[in-house]
Amino acid sequence: MDRDTARGWIERWDRQQEESLPDREDRFTALIDAVQEGTGRADPVVLDIGCGPGSLAVRLLGRLPRATVIAIDADPVSLTLGQAAYSDLPGLRFVDLDLRIPGWSAALGLARPADAAVSTTALHWLPEPDLRAMYAELAAILKPGGLLLNGDHFSLDAKEAPTLARLDLALRQREDLRRFPDGHAESWHAWWEAATADPVLAGPAAERSRRHVDSGHHGSESNQLATHVEALRAAGFAEIGTLWQRGDNRLLCAVLRPS
Ligand SMILES: C[S@@+](CC[C@H](N)C(=O)[O-])C[C@H]1O[C@@H](n2cnc3c(N)ncnc32)[C@H](O)[C@@H]1O
Repeated sequence: MDRDTARGWIERWDRQQEESLPDREDRFTALIDAVQEGTGRADPVVLDIGCGPGSLAVRLLGRLPRATVIAIDADPVSLTLGQAAYSDLPGLRFVDLDLRIPGWSAALGLARPADAAVSTTALHWLPEPDLRAMYAELAAILKPGGLLLNGDHFSLDAKEAPTLARLDLALRQREDLRRFPDGHAESWHAWWEAATADPVLAGPAAERSRRHVDSGHHGSESNQLATHVEALRAAGFAEIGTLWQRGDNRLLCAVLRPS
């Protein structure tokens, strides 16, 4: 896989992600602002959990070139693309790890506790018990007062607040129709079909099927805001709240309890 081919697929990935998330760049910007302000250092150690092909990691390094970003994912196609596209980017390291498997953090080889963990459109993939265990393990490798910044669609609990939950979803659907009256140019499934049909990605694509990385993706309860807030509190995070929001698209921030 050469660098330009990888960058071409990532460019198409970004366009595809923006179709379901038109404010993706604004959310990246707000998230990186929070890393800068919240860590207060020019050389933070940052974990990008569920990094995909590295879209957030490279934007973060664009603004904080002295940062160390450890980009974690379990998907061989995304990792292959990220590694080929950004092999010459100082400060970035991709790590092949499944966040559902306890003990994942031991493989990171951290020289010091991480200042922040960041994530975009990824953690709703984890089934709730795995999400809780992952946050608990994360708390053990973040420095006291360290940040978790998680940008995702977070839904409201339909049992607790049925009208709000319905309106939250309806507003997102209406906005999507207004912005894309003729439908989306490329869907998630269409991108995956095209990428995995590229002969240069045949090996990673076969490994992706073997691993079933996306087995928890659909119907997961981890798209609920309350699930994350409760799991973060149980893991030892003190302040938990929304820093940026457009509809159900939120940037959730949690601050690890100072020791
Ligand atoms: C929709 S993509 C988002 C990627 C990237 N953060 C972005 O915003 O472009 C979700 C990512 O989470 C990763 N992921 C899901 N479950 C995972 C797990 N158990 N361990 C590691 N990564 C996981 C997927 O492989 C995928 O790359």
